[in-house]
Order: sequence, then C-alpha cells, then structure tokens
Amino acid sequence: MYRKNDNGQAMDPAEVTPCGAARPSSEPVLEMSFEVGHYDFAAAGEAASKIKQVLRKLGMAPDVVRRAAVAAYEAEMNLVIHSVGGSILLHVDTEKVTLVSCDEGPGMPDISLAMKEGYSTAPDEIREMGFGAGMGLPNMKRCSDSFSIESEVGRGTTVTASIRIA
Ligand SMILES: Nc1ncnc2c1ncn2[C@@H]1O[C@H](COP(=O)(O)OP(=O)(O)O)[C@@H](O)[C@H]1O
Ligand SMILES: [Mg+2]
Repeated sequence: MYRKNDNGQAMDPAEVTPCGAARPSSEPVLEMSFEVGHYDFAAAGEAASKIKQVLRKLGMAPDVVRRAAVAAYEAEMNLVIHSVGGSILLHVDTEKVTLVSCDEGPGMPDISLAMKEGYSTAPDEIREMGFGAGMGLPNMKRCSDSFSIESEVGRGTTVTASIRIA
C-alpha cells in the first residue's frame, strides 16, 4: 500500500480528500494527491502528466493510462480556469483507477448545461490561450466507465471519474 501526496509526504488517512470530498471507500493499491493552483498556467498539466507516469509505472494497459491522463488533464484545467484551485486524488484499487477532483470554487449552477458539448463560461482571455472549447467535461465522461459531478453554487465542485482496469 502506497499513500502519499505529490510532495512525498504521508497523507492523512482520513475519509476525505485534501479538499473535503469523500474518498473512494475501496482499499487502495496506490493513492496520491495533487494540488492544483488557480490560474497557475506555468504548472498546468503537471498533475495529469505525473498521474500518467505513475500509472505507466504500475504497468497499466496503455488505453487505461491514456483515458486516465485525458480525464486528469481536463479536471486539472478546470481547476486552473474555473475554480479557485483544488486537488486531484488518484486512487487505484484492484479493479479501477479513480480520479477525484475537488475544489471550493464557485460551483456549477446547472450541471447538465455544463456537460453540454461546446458550453463554456471561459472568458475571452482564456479562449485566446486556446482553452474554453467546452469539451472538457464531455471528454472526461467519454474516457470514463463511471462519471459523476457534485456541485453546489458558492461551495464547490467534486468530479469523480473511474476507469476499469480489466
Ligand atoms: N471545477 C469547476 N468549478 C466550476 N465550474 C466548472 C468547473 N469545471 C467546469 N465548470 C463549468 O463547466 C463548463 C464546461 O466545462 P468544460 O466542459 O471543461 O469546458 P471548458 O473548460 O472548455 O469551459 C465550464 O465552462 C464552467 O462553466
Ligand atoms: Mg474544461
């Protein structure tokens, strides 16, 4: 069992992720948490690429690694762009890879609208950087075997995506 954050410090074995979302209840083979900063474009994408490396090292099938990396990247960019920053928990058990992205940002007033292809509230300055196509959440869902969003306006958002290993 391997449980640490991306600074290599031991993680609090509490029932919640670093920003308060419920942890997957299954016994993890590996669990790591990655902090993601708001508007930190210099570091954006680092969590997703570390997650990809870790899954590769674990010997996961290339398709599982690819789908998890895409989902992690979209979650990470949403933390950077739409939230106040937050964290992504990587939880691997014997059956699946689970990513839990959580933040204490603005929340989503309408989750089904947010899930629509092409829907984005990204401001012009973000679109000029090439983001804001409104495909991130639909893409995450497509890459996942199970996908859910919990969000409350003014409280925050938790996005959970799982990919079956076998
Ligand atoms: N963590 C989040 N907190 C608040 N709103 C979010 C979050 N993630 C996504 N959203 C909302 O959902 C919309 C759609 O997200 P997404 O499909 O990733 O497209 P994009 O990031 O290109 O806007 C965003 O424009 C934003 O309004
Ligand atoms: Mg997005």
